[in-house]
Amino acid sequence: MNKLCIHGGRQLHGSVSVSGSKNAALPILSACLLSGGEKHISNVPNLKDVETLMSLLKAMGVKISQTGASTYCVSAKKLSSYTAPYDLVKKMRASILVLGPLLARFGSAIVSFPGGCAIGNRSVDMHLTGLQAMGAQIIIEHGYIKAESEGRLKGTEIYHDTVSVGATENLMMAAVLADGKTVINNAAREPEIIDLGKCLIKWGAKITGLGSSKIEIEGVEKLSGGTFNVMPDRIEAATYMAAIASVGGKVTLFNANINHLSAVIAKLKESGLNFFLKENCIEIEMSNEQPKAVDIKTAPYPGFPTDMQAPFTVINALAKGTSVIEETIFENRLMHVPELRRMGANISVKDNIARVDGRAELFGAEVTASDLRASAALIIAGLAAKGETIISGLEHVERGYEDIQDKFKQLGAEIT
Ligand code: UD1
Repeated sequence: MNKLCIHGGRQLHGSVSVSGSKNAALPILSACLLSGGEKHISNVPNLKDVETLMSLLKAMGVKISQTGASTYCVSAKKLSSYTAPYDLVKKMRASILVLGPLLARFGSAIVSFPGGCAIGNRSVDMHLTGLQAMGAQIIIEHGYIKAESEGRLKGTEIYHDTVSVGATENLMMAAVLADGKTVINNAAREPEIIDLGKCLIKWGAKITGLGSSKIEIEGVEKLSGGTFNVMPDRIEAATYMAAIASVGGKVTLFNANINHLSAVIAKLKESGLNFFLKENCIEIEMSNEQPKAVDIKTAPYPGFPTDMQAPFTVINALAKGTSVIEETIFENRLMHVPELRRMGANISVKDNIARVDGRAELFGAEVTASDLRASAALIIAGLAAKGETIISGLEHVERGYEDIQDKFKQLGAEIT
């Protein structure tokens, strides 16, 4: 999909089923490298990022077969290579997640050093210093991270200066096969970390403290295989909620876990979105009133997720009143703002803070998406705007939203 054309201004009605979580599926598929046993992973979303990781695993010799609509059988009995090449890491930075598992099981890994990306520097220093503290020798040569370990990695105490989802995951995966106990202090607490941890525990790992900022892992010699069902995508669920808040209407969401969405739901309620919890679904409804402006400051979980900052900017652009949006996780994650201005939004940016003066209407325009969540924001803006919006740069959206066009069409959107 290169471009989307949206005729906005139609309220959304109907139901949507939330897919499996991208950010949980990627580490869980990487964790399949930790043992040779067969794993059956279900609720895996059909996304470009998942396809990229599967290509990477297959290129190393991992056998992957699709056994159901969203279920895969993964077997990493023997590998032919321990290398994650530039062309795949360049497509998706989360490829760095194979580093910890490869090193822990095979004592060797060569992973292309991820460069910067659209939303910021995204350094991997904490991944590397953590592995070094566990005894790995690491050199950076010709654009590659070359990591070796003589024998098993050694359990140790690690402290992170910044909360990092990826570094917590990589080190947790490395530590499950290490000799002795590893403690990760100032660990990330995101639900996806808990999902990965639950999966590792199911396959034989000894982990405590999941969901807290201190995770303790007692290394084991081997993991087994088994099954695992990936959690629902909380950011996808929240994106549909933000769409209803911006566009109006009434929608039922299936497979959403509201326990993962406390911060987002609190802010959406403040903006005027109504939630009705049913036994197996959530009904959300926006009255015909304009949303209310709501201040947002992104923070690691359980704070407001940076991945929802761009979609929320659209709600505020259409809201009654003025709001302040502060991005604290990434240095360059307000790139949707100039595009939203092309659609009439009143937003000024200084450093990483956006001041939004809401207005009752946006109008359609040609805009370009810079990254995954900015794409979602522009789609929501297009759905809310008067007239035609043409969005290009949409290769990003397929990385993280399963069937987004069909799901919005199902809700009555005019989108091609
Ligand atoms: C993950 C999510 C992404 C989300 C982000 C923050 C996946 C596949 N992606 O990305 O959707 O937006 O968490 O919730 O799960 N940092 C360092 N050194 C490091 C590692 C990180 O300085 O070694 C910095 C980053 O530059 C960034 C901050 O820490 O400023 C948070 O990054 P991190 O939590 O690691 O994000 P990802 O795991 O890449």
